[in-house]
Amino acid sequence: MNFSDSEIVASILSNEYTITDDPKSADLILLNTCSIRDHAEQRVFKRLSELNTLRKKNNQLQIGLIGCMAERIKDELFTKGNVDLVVGPDAYRDLPAILKKESPTNINVLLSEVETYDDISPIRYDSNGISAFISIMRGCNNFCAYCVVPYTRGRERSRNWQTIVHEAQKLFDNGYKEVTLLGQNVNSYLYGNMNFAKLIESVAKINPLLRVRFATSHPKDLSDELLEVMATYPNICKSIHLPAQSGSDNMLKAMNRKYTRQWYLDRIKSIRNYMPDCGISTDMIAGFCGETQADHEQSLSLMESVGYDYAYMFKYSMREGTAAHKNMEDNIDEMTKTARLEEIIALQQESSHKSNLKDIGKTFEVLVEGISKRSEDFLFGRNSQNKVVVFPKGMYKKGDYVQVKITSCTSATLKGETVNNN
Ligand code: 5AD
Ligand code: SF4
Repeated sequence: MNFSDSEIVASILSNEYTITDDPKSADLILLNTCSIRDHAEQRVFKRLSELNTLRKKNNQLQIGLIGCMAERIKDELFTKGNVDLVVGPDAYRDLPAILKKESPTNINVLLSEVETYDDISPIRYDSNGISAFISIMRGCNNFCAYCVVPYTRGRERSRNWQTIVHEAQKLFDNGYKEVTLLGQNVNSYLYGNMNFAKLIESVAKINPLLRVRFATSHPKDLSDELLEVMATYPNICKSIHLPAQSGSDNMLKAMNRKYTRQWYLDRIKSIRNYMPDCGISTDMIAGFCGETQADHEQSLSLMESVGYDYAYMFKYSMREGTAAHKNMEDNIDEMTKTARLEEIIALQQESSHKSNLKDIGKTFEVLVEGISKRSEDFLFGRNSQNKVVVFPKGMYKKGDYVQVKITSCTSATLKGETVNNN
């Protein structure tokens, strides 16, 4: 989401600034920040202290902090981070005025109920020219007890669907082959009577050669209507990120996730009914307030029964202002959190490996994204299930769709040979 927001900010500032890769030659450095866990914020402070040393060589340099930390820490950042300006996720249109000192202050952290930046054409300055993000909604109304996002990104609002389809069409016309529709909870997208299933169908219809992905789905409102649309269109990628967070009903309730373990497993069953080959990934949190050993084991058993292809796994990190901070105790000690997280990670690694082993002998259509990091003679790309596939370069290039037969794997990557490509 921040990657996509930075492209919007680049567009908003494109009349005044050009982009450089080299911080030493910059007149303005904006750090787009995440508040989701304390670790993310600590890294930002470290980066700020490094960037501040550049002021010695360039006394014109302005350093600004944008994104979720702006919203959470606000004007304290001027002293804590030694920054010149602080701008929250809904105030990016104000950046030119703040930078030209036309604004009365150098801080704007107002949240909006309507801002979607829908008329702004993002500048894809860090793009491979093949795959792009399209933000379709902003904010979140779910208030999971542990999560700071509803406070830093404000209320949920959906972007005008016509501007989304237009942006996807423009990307395709410019040679892009894949778009990822982005929102905190895409399944609650609603603009007039356009819901997410209808929206993704409209994007898929642009061209069969444009792949469509999306993230993230909240299990409570992943609809069969969406699964049916996904199954119908070959260019809608067969991959769903469906964060479970925990496998224990007690924890799910405390987390305010609004579904049960059984509901979650039913959704998985439905995904597999519509698309037996669908890739499924999750987010898991270890050591949430009050999590018992039995709760933790429920998480492990959920992971085992789903057999995820991929997972993002975290230790619970208490965030000020959230319901968990106000009403619960962060009472799982660090050692236990770490041990539980390690068990979750080990199990997932096994599961990813098992899932990859099952792909040996299968042939997938791979969209080539570039040269493999390990060897110039190999290309890499992704299959519909979002798995990375590496194969010999031959005559192929970035942006090609290539049929690849899988011959071996690690827990992270599939390797194969090209077949039947004319
Ligand atoms: N502590 C740990 N993980 C968190 N996440 C969100 N808030 C927290 C927190 N306070 C995780 C969730 C979410 C992902 C984006 O980050 O798993 O799905
Ligand atoms: Fe946070 Fe829950 Fe919203 Fe996701 S759905 S952004 S975890 S509050």
